[in-house]
Amino acid sequence: MMAALLLSAAFAVNCICVLLVVLPKLNAVNADSVDFSQWQVCLGIILIIALAYAAFGYYLFQMNENVFKNIKHMMLICVLIAITVLLALLTTLAYIHITLILMVSLLVALLINDKTAFLLNLLLSLSVGIMNTDGTDILGVDAFAVMLSCILGGTAAIFMLKNKSKRGNIITAGVFGGAVMCIVLLGAYFVASASAEHIISTIAWVGASALLSALLAVGSLSVWESLFDVATPARLNELSNANHPLLKQLMAEAPGTYHHSMMAAALAQAAAQRIGADHLLARVGAYYHDVGKLRRPQYFIENQKGGENIHNTLSPLESASSIIAHQKDSVKLLTKHKLPSEVIKIASEHHGNSLMSYFYNKAVSSAGNPNAINIKQYRYSGSRPSTKESAIVMLSDCCEAAVRSLGDTTQEQVEQMVKNVISSKISGSDAQLASSPLTLSDVAEIEKAFIKTFSAIMHERIQYTNSQEKENSR
Ligand SMILES: [Fe+2]
Ligand SMILES: [Fe+2]
Repeated sequence: MMAALLLSAAFAVNCICVLLVVLPKLNAVNADSVDFSQWQVCLGIILIIALAYAAFGYYLFQMNENVFKNIKHMMLICVLIAITVLLALLTTLAYIHITLILMVSLLVALLINDKTAFLLNLLLSLSVGIMNTDGTDILGVDAFAVMLSCILGGTAAIFMLKNKSKRGNIITAGVFGGAVMCIVLLGAYFVASASAEHIISTIAWVGASALLSALLAVGSLSVWESLFDVATPARLNELSNANHPLLKQLMAEAPGTYHHSMMAAALAQAAAQRIGADHLLARVGAYYHDVGKLRRPQYFIENQKGGENIHNTLSPLESASSIIAHQKDSVKLLTKHKLPSEVIKIASEHHGNSLMSYFYNKAVSSAGNPNAINIKQYRYSGSRPSTKESAIVMLSDCCEAAVRSLGDTTQEQVEQMVKNVISSKISGSDAQLASSPLTLSDVAEIEKAFIKTFSAIMHERIQYTNSQEKENSR
């Protein structure tokens, strides 16, 4: 509903801008003729644009539901549409013909996905083409040439950017898209036998627009990322860098947790790649999932280096409370450092609402009566994983800790442990992934990816000795 409202608003702004450009041209050409033909033209333009918006919205709803249901994405799309058509209106009225359509294609490809960028480029090419009409020939040569150059140039730029997440690639893609636009314009005007002066001026404006678009896309990317809280591949790649202050602090103050996070990240990335989930998001989510342990590193066995276990001096409830707190502490720390909400969500869900069974059982055996113990105090307070990436990080986190607890082991034991951990999360009394978006075939593929990755990294394992340590190490 919200997406439809946003698109309707963008459609209204788009139509008004196009008509404000086209109407004065019609008036200038047909000053002595009857107004009725002008209204026919306007009605025709509105119908064409309306149909294009309906097709765009329908495509998003049917084929790209994640984008259609994501209010932030839809707001971003509509804001970019408004900027493009308003700028096209202002520059046309000022007799300069700068259009930022290429900037929109590049930004949407980076911030959302290339399919949406391609469709949005088609939608905006139509409007920008109509706005470039010369008044005597609506939807004629000028409109067609500009429209075709925007469609092919934008498509080329999106194609050039595919799977390239570094910011330097944006300029290359923009320049390539601009070159394609100029070549298309040259071809279209040659066919239409346009004057040399007209060809040169149009190509100059389009070339300048393409270059400006690429520069603005690079310059404004981080603003859009933080304004709309989008985890782009470029931003996730930056967060993967070991020089990030949080990772550096984790390495210095909680080296065991840092190592565990790196291993979990390797597993999560392999599994996400195998099932076609966002492997970069899964990897970054695993890197940062346990940063909350920085508050009390020594409470987690992986950071005790064989020293005294602090939990020997605490009651089961104190131990459980201090360990359970790390999930919330991770969220606080990641929010403070302004990490993307997708990464924070992974940290907030990595234990779900699972039970700290070791300390719960210890409390029950001390009390001698299960009714004397409030089980809620021994449960994590997060939500169960709601995305594939979040579910993968939960599984890689548990499997990494469990396999490390095996110490020196065999391939068969590792395989059995991975199968046991995964099945305990899918079914059983505390099945955190019972209603996750993972399918059974996804789970089977994740299991294979984990086993393959473990066989590659087994020589780097850290040996733990008992089940408490296993639990604490997560
Ligand atoms: Fe963990
Ligand atoms: Fe954890």
